[in-house]
Amino acid sequence: MLNAVTGLRCVVCGTTYGVDVPYTCPSCGLEGILDVQYDYERIARALTRDALARRPRDHWRYRELIPIAPDASLPPLQVGWTPVYEAPRLAQKAGVRRLHLKDEGRNPTASFKDRASSVGVVKARETGQETIACASTGNAASSLAGFAASVGLKAVIFVPERAPDPKVTQLLIFGATVIKVKGDYAVTWELCQRACERRGWYNRNCAVNPYLVEGKKTCGLEIAEQCGDAMPDWVAVSVGDGCTIAGVWKGLVEMRRLGFIDRLPRLLGVQAEGARPVVDAFRGKRDLVPGPANTFADSISVGHPRNWRKALKAIADSGGTMVAVSDAEILEAMRLGARLGGVFGEPAGAAALAGVMRAGIAKSESALAVVTGNGLKDIRGAMEAVGPPLVVEPDLAALDKVLPL
Ligand SMILES: Cc1ncc(COP(=O)(O)O)c(C=O)c1O
Repeated sequence: MLNAVTGLRCVVCGTTYGVDVPYTCPSCGLEGILDVQYDYERIARALTRDALARRPRDHWRYRELIPIAPDASLPPLQVGWTPVYEAPRLAQKAGVRRLHLKDEGRNPTASFKDRASSVGVVKARETGQETIACASTGNAASSLAGFAASVGLKAVIFVPERAPDPKVTQLLIFGATVIKVKGDYAVTWELCQRACERRGWYNRNCAVNPYLVEGKKTCGLEIAEQCGDAMPDWVAVSVGDGCTIAGVWKGLVEMRRLGFIDRLPRLLGVQAEGARPVVDAFRGKRDLVPGPANTFADSISVGHPRNWRKALKAIADSGGTMVAVSDAEILEAMRLGARLGGVFGEPAGAAALAGVMRAGIAKSESALAVVTGNGLKDIRGAMEAVGPPLVVEPDLAALDKVLPL
């Protein structure tokens, strides 16, 4: 029994299956990503304001909306309830009425992927598997490695060769088996997919595993609870595969359905200029055509996104839009987010903020940018955003020379 789950619905053909279907739709194959369905009336009886007020401030506070057994044993690491900060100087710079940053870098392995991985390890243990695998541009991998370590599961991680060293180091320190694939994210993903089929490993890839997005959804549930009546007009999220923005939207919609908020924001989906297939599909009102993946924002350097249907539907349902931002704009957003907002985001995290600056949001409107990962995740990216430090001999005269009084 998985809490109030009633079934799994295919996003392509609409067929609903029981929870015994392990990954994607049996008729539509990999395109047929499944969406978890719930009995919301039942959830509404348990998930009340009073109940929430008494619960710990982590993402398991929404457990009725997470597809795990009611008595599942949970990983020990603290996930979620990341802070939402108001950043007035940043709002002024961006030319919007109010601007908030949700700092997802505060999760245990420093990105919002911990929301999904925490659910992934619970599901792997439910099915009795001892090895869990994923392909990742970096963050899902380091997050999975951390969570697998915390509960004693084996993790096998496939990363593209350009994954930054800090992220790969994070995998290795948690004891994961790391396979660096000579190629981009698309071929890395394919190899992981095939290896899971052949070896029977539990597959944590969000685009095929319907339960993982439900973990990402808790970011949207939190935004609703944290913002309440002051829900911003726009919520900006960077887009790679598209799972994150789809998850955030599902969480927001559920919180309206359950009566916690009465107004939904519009979604702003942000991609990098060098990897913008979802933006092009959105603008062209057409299906996705895979394209190049060439941006220094490695986490969203995805040329063949797997969850574009859910992402496009979420953006359309919200009445939102998409923008592409250049690497230079992302670097500027990294500086501004840190200097005017106090939040140091990695390039993909700062991309959401760059999108807010680029989208032409009206002066009278407000926005929240989800800063999906911490800047120390990719120090090379951050170093491009700043100049070198001042170097001095250890005496005051030398200091006065480089930093005049
Ligand atoms: C920091 C960060 N931001 C944004 C994304 C994009 O998420 P998605 O691929 O689900 O669209 C990722 C994905 O790896 C990420 O690591």
